[in-house]
Amino acid sequence: MVKVVVCGAAGGIGQPLSLLLKQSSLISHLALYDIVNAAGVASDLSHINTASKVTGHVGKDSLAEALTGAHTVVIPAGVPRKPGMTRDDLFKVNASIVRDLAQACAQYCPTAFILVISNPVNSTVPIVCEVLKKAKVFDPRRVFGVTTLDVVRSSTFVHQIKPQFEPHSNRITVVGGHSGATIVPVLSQVKQVRFSDEEIKTLTHRIQYGGDEVVKAKDGAGSATLSMAYAGARFTNSLLEASVGGKRGLVESTYVHLIGNPGAEWNVQATGGLQYFAQDVELGPQGVAQVKALPDLSVEEKKLVEIAIGELKGNIAKGVSFITEGG
Ligand code: NAI
Repeated sequence: MVKVVVCGAAGGIGQPLSLLLKQSSLISHLALYDIVNAAGVASDLSHINTASKVTGHVGKDSLAEALTGAHTVVIPAGVPRKPGMTRDDLFKVNASIVRDLAQACAQYCPTAFILVISNPVNSTVPIVCEVLKKAKVFDPRRVFGVTTLDVVRSSTFVHQIKPQFEPHSNRITVVGGHSGATIVPVLSQVKQVRFSDEEIKTLTHRIQYGGDEVVKAKDGAGSATLSMAYAGARFTNSLLEASVGGKRGLVESTYVHLIGNPGAEWNVQATGGLQYFAQDVELGPQGVAQVKALPDLSVEEKKLVEIAIGELKGNIAKGVSFITEGG
């Protein structure tokens, strides 16, 4: 039983994510941190009859109290997209929010798992890792970019055109990153159903730009929150089951620091040595137990991965230099 902290807990994602985590029997203490309203959210959730304790922490001065003793810190803090914005447009605001939270983690819970939801994930994960490197507490097995929503969308969208594909238990690997063209669903490896070339093309595009459907429908009121909370809770629960629940063989696609992680040697050949990449990862007691080898890719998927690598290079460099060049 462990302490889990949600940073940005009063937000559109933070609230339903905290609600879902309140239902976990592996969490003994759910600490909700935000710059506003976390006390109210915590009071509300604390009336739910599960065993975990819920505490609310508002403002920077309460960060130490929120983070101390944390086993896992989930970060959905920051601004979401509005119509017409890309995830990269969020960098200006979210980069410093994530940097400050990572610095606080380095100070108050240096061995915690850090799960980054705040966009642009392709750059915010490098920011967290660089902050931890600077503080000399970095362990590549313990930092994750949460790309689970791309995986969840993949199963859902496939099921919508192939009803015989059961969406809840069938997982589709999604590699690359978490923005538009960097999202590469590996549909060629789906064994349960067959697709035409046209179906693959349409599905791939929909998965890559699924977030835009929600941004457009919300019409200025934000981006995916409920499906993201579901996806964030799924990833958090998988990590808790593997790290404290003793479950073996749990695999999730997630964006990690490849270099230094067990099993990621394929990366030199496959990506030209990219520092960060989303891929299937087996989770274990220390976080990443093993980064799986890239699955076999179709000719089309190989082309998409090439495009993703090109874009990721810039996204990663932007995150890294934000810290190394004193952002
Ligand atoms: P929101 O605006 O509803 O909530 C954000 C929360 O963060 C607010 O409560 C705000 O007070 C809080 N916050 C701002 N600065 C903070 C700080 N310094 N410390 C702690 N909390 C702080 O936004 P929403 O919709 O919850 O989205 C949050 C982030 O998640 C956005 O960056 C969004 O782009 C990202 N996102 C990521 C997805 C993914 O798949 N990884 C999917 C959807 C959204």
